[in-house]
Order: sequence, then structure tokens, then C-alpha cells
Amino acid sequence: MANGLLTLSYLIGSISFIIGLKLLSHPDSARKGNIYAALGMTIAIIATIFLYKDSKGLALGNYIWIFGGLLIGAITGTMAAKKVQMTAMPQMVSLFNGMGGACAAIISIVEFRHLIREGIVLSDEPLLAFIILAGLVIGIVSFTGSMIAFGKLNGNIGDRTLPLQQVFNIGLLLIIACILLAIIFGIGSSNVVILFYILLIISALYGILFVMPIGGADMPVVISLLNSFTGVAAALGGFLYNNPVMLTGGILVGSAGTVLTILMCKAMNRSLTNVIVGSFGGNKSGAQSTVAGGTYKEISITDAAVLMTYSKKVIIVPGYGLAVAQAQHICHELEKVLDANGVEVKYAIHPVAGRMPGHMNVLLAEADVSYDKLADMDEINPEFAQTDVVLVLGANDVVNPAAKTDPASPIYGMPILDVENASHVIVNKRSMKPGYAGIENALFYQPKTSMLFGDAKECLNKLVQEIKSLG
Ligand code: TAP
Repeated sequence: MANGLLTLSYLIGSISFIIGLKLLSHPDSARKGNIYAALGMTIAIIATIFLYKDSKGLALGNYIWIFGGLLIGAITGTMAAKKVQMTAMPQMVSLFNGMGGACAAIISIVEFRHLIREGIVLSDEPLLAFIILAGLVIGIVSFTGSMIAFGKLNGNIGDRTLPLQQVFNIGLLLIIACILLAIIFGIGSSNVVILFYILLIISALYGILFVMPIGGADMPVVISLLNSFTGVAAALGGFLYNNPVMLTGGILVGSAGTVLTILMCKAMNRSLTNVIVGSFGGNKSGAQSTVAGGTYKEISITDAAVLMTYSKKVIIVPGYGLAVAQAQHICHELEKVLDANGVEVKYAIHPVAGRMPGHMNVLLAEADVSYDKLADMDEINPEFAQTDVVLVLGANDVVNPAAKTDPASPIYGMPILDVENASHVIVNKRSMKPGYAGIENALFYQPKTSMLFGDAKECLNKLVQEIKSLG
């Protein structure tokens, strides 16, 4: 009876993950998707705690430890999620992802010690050994890599590249593979316990070193890759414990993360191999990006309002600065007043605008911007040539022409929004400071570009008032 109930709850959990993931693919239904998946997870956890019996028919026990841990985790998670600023979300995602990786690695450590205590020779059980060791390596790489990603996104760690970094990283990967094979097939008479802990240390080092040099706007790819690592590590845990819900959850995270990584690589025009050996973005030695410089011109709120009101078509390019200013609601207001004046308004969404995948979609959905007003990069790029005004709101790297023209630039090769093809470009930001990639932007100095300096929310407020007074 209890066994049947446990299987049923795992089935409910697995189905809710699949439905949840499907709902997450659209901003309108994403909140619901999150709740379904969380409910499924809660059912699976509660059922495991109370209904699981081992081969000897014994229940889990250790309830004080289990509920103590659950309570600490639930309180910390809830407080962190409630307090976090929208702009600090990516750091938080990295941190949570790292915790998942650490859990998977801990499962491997516990199960390895268990096997050794029982006197089981790992080379006699190659499949079991492979699952434990792969869970350890992938989990620990995901943990240390995510911690470095957290530090970088939080601004505590800069991009650092060692001399011969790529060769070093490939060397570490080879050592990891050799130790794995040595333990699984019992090659040599070495002490398996010592080899296991050496594997742990080298994998941790690899996680640090492969994320360390990545920068120059390429962080999104690495974050989604680490996400998929955690999924795979959790799926290995599910395999180990013969737990279907853990297996399904892990496979879903692993495969969704892999698909996202491939899409991100395409969006950034980068190769996956380069990400894995930690050799793209950042400051490549010898690479000297051309500094834009020159003179730029400013535009007043009144002139910007007149220009936009008497346009046929305006495209808004939202970026990280819009999220910082929390200007999504007033941005929607601007769209509505322009629309009321007969201006066609669209939003151009670059795949890595902001600081996490889908950041701009979520932000604009929060302000009730209609989903069909949002156009992704491939769809909108041909439209700029027929556009009167492009309003760039707190975006920088995603409209930087150096990605197309400057081979020495760390963002070279990344597809960008071709805003310079429009008749006029208005750029709203607070200063001439660079964006995330830390590089100059020649767009700001082009003759058709005008700078509208100020906080996005304040500028948009004034713009809306001005346009209303014109009407
Ligand atoms: P950024 O290149 O970071 O530029 C944002 C601009 O917003 C800055 O130049 C800043 O200039 C301006 N800004 C900041 N606060 C503002 C405010 N209150 N009002 C108005 N402007 C403000 O942003 P982007 O173009 O969206 O590009 C995203 C970058 O982040 C890319 O390099 C991308 O690779 C990286 N990244 C993305 C992700 C994902 S998945 N989306 C994850 C990690 C990293 P001022 O300081 O002069 O105001």
C-alpha cells in the first residue's frame, strides 16, 4: 500500500515537473508553472520522508535532522528570494544552482564511503562506480563554477586568464578522465580512496578555472551550461537511488539547460567547445579593442518627445539599465501614449539583454506589455531600416557595433541589434560609462545618435508628460 502510494506520488511529481516546464515557456503562464513544479516537488519530498522503506523494510528515520534541514533551507530560501533585487536575480540563480551541484556531489561522497565501508570493490561494479564518480565530478564542477559565476556577476571577481589557460584546462580534463577510468576499471594498485579525493580536488579546480576567464558579455552561456550540469548530476543521483522523480527532474533540468546553452551559443555566435575549455570572452592577451571616443550630441526631453510623436514607427530597445531603474511600467505608458498618437511601437529583444535569459521578456510582461509587441533579434533586425526612431533604454553591449567591426573586441562575433540602420537613434543612460563587457560603444558617437542622459524612469516620466502635452 505504502509502496503504491509512494510510486503514485513520484508519478504526480514527475508529471507536475513536465507541466510546470511547459508553462514556464511563456511569461503569462510562468508563475503558474513554477507553482505546479514546486507542489510536485513538495509531494515527492513528503512522500519520500514518510512512505519510503529500504530493502530491509526500514523507514528513513532521522526526522529531527530531516525537518531541521528542511526548516533552515525553507527559511533561508524564502528570505533570500523575498529580499533579492530583480537586478541581482542572476547571482541568486548561480548560488542556488551551485547548491544543487554541491548536493549531488555530497550524495556521491556519502555513497562512495558507504560502499567502501561495506567492502565493495568499485571495479567489480563499473556502472555503479561510473554513476557515483560522474555525479561527483559534474556536481563539484557545477558548485565551484557557480560560485565563481556568482562572484563575477556580483562584481567581486574580475576576469582572470592564466598563461596557457586552454592547455591547462584541457590537461585537467584529461587527468579527470584518467582517474575516473583508473577507479572504474581498477587500473593500477592505487588506493581508491585517495584517488577519489584527488578527483574531487581536481574537479573543483577545473570548475574554478573554466569559469574564471569567461567574461566580455559571455557569462549567460556559462550560467546555462552550469545549470545543465546540475541537472545531469541530480539525474545521476536519481539513477543511483532508483528514484524516478529525482531522475525526471534532473533529466528535465539537464536537457532544458543543454538546449538553452546551445541557443545561447548560437545567439552569441560562440562554440560550445570553447566554453568548456574556458577560452572565450574576457580579456584575451594582446587583444586591443579600438576605443570609440570623439564627440557625441545630446537631445532634450522636448526634442525627443517631438521626434517620437511625429514618427511613423518607433522601436524600443530595453536593456539592463531599464531593469535597474525599474522603468518597465512607465515604458509601457510611453508605448501607450505613442500608440494613441498613431505611432507604431515595437520592442526589440536581444537574447542576452539584461542579466539572465529572458530577463527583458519577464520585466516587460510584469508591466503588462503585450507579448506580440516583443520581437526577437532575427525578426526585428530587418525592420530597423524602415524605422524613424530607435529608443535605446539602458542597453549598451547589445547595440555595440564593435561586435561586427572590431575583431579585437571581446564581443566580436556576437550578433547585435542593428539600431544604426534606423533614421534616428536616441540612447538613454546616465553617463558615457560602458556596460557589462566594459568596452566603449561607437554607436554613441555616430551622427544619427543623440544621447538622452538620466535615469530611465525619470526620463521616461518626463517624456510621457511632454508627449501628452503635445497631443
Ligand atoms: P549593459 O551592456 O550592461 O548596459 C546597461 C547600461 O545601462 C549601462 O551602460 C548603464 O549606463 C545603463 N544604466 C544603468 N542604470 C541605468 C539607469 N538607472 N537608467 C538608465 N540607464 C542605466 O546591458 P545590455 O545592453 O542589456 O547587455 C547585457 C549585458 O549583460 C551583455 O553584455 C550580456 O552578455 C551580459 N549578461 C547577460 C546575461 C543574460 S543571460 N541576459 C547574463 C549575464 C551577463 P550608465 O551607467 O551610464 O547609466
